[in-house]
Amino acid sequence: MKILIAYHSDYGSTEKMAQAIAAGAQAAIPESMITLQQATDTTLEDLQQADVLVFGTPVHMGSMAWQMKKLVDSTSKLWMENLLEGKVGGVFATGGGLGGEGGGIEHTLISLHSHFLQHGMLTIGFPKSLPGYIDAGLQWGLAARTGSHEGMPQGVSDAALAAARSYGAHIARMAKQILSH
Ligand SMILES: Cc1cc2nc3c(=O)[nH]c(=O)nc-3n(C[C@H](O)[C@H](O)[C@H](O)COP(=O)(O)O)c2cc1C
Repeated sequence: MKILIAYHSDYGSTEKMAQAIAAGAQAAIPESMITLQQATDTTLEDLQQADVLVFGTPVHMGSMAWQMKKLVDSTSKLWMENLLEGKVGGVFATGGGLGGEGGGIEHTLISLHSHFLQHGMLTIGFPKSLPGYIDAGLQWGLAARTGSHEGMPQGVSDAALAAARSYGAHIARMAKQILSH
């Protein structure tokens, strides 16, 4: 099973979450072949070759970063020919969170799911029974707050990284079940 984790990260928080998702997936399904790469380095061929696509982005002005949107938009050629249909998806985001719940992290995750569903993919949320839900889970996927109440960047917490490992393990287990049918 080939898992591609494609993400954008300017300051490293989203990248750390991507690495923790990879570690969780690898531990859960050791035979998985996992690739981690920046969205800007990801080609249409990379997407086609993977069985599982996990996309992650920081929240930028209430939505996904343009680097991730550029990758998303580039897939229209694959959509025309149904080339991502049946693949498994997962989504994650980090946001500064100024204003309590932050501005746009749910919208960002839902947008990524919408993209995967447009391709006919089977996309995986974060069930509340999973370890870590309370720290960085939302039904939509993995969501970590990285800013303080004063709006200063704090980075990702250890609890959020544990939630990321949990989500990575869940995606890998679910994907193995789905893809074996
Ligand atoms: C241009 C820009 C816009 C941002 N807009 C938002 C926003 O709308 N909502 C939010 O919660 N955080 C926002 N943030 C904060 C980032 O989402 C947050 O710091 C994130 O964890 C950074 O991830 P990275 O370290 O992977 O780059 C913004 C940051 C930047 C640089």
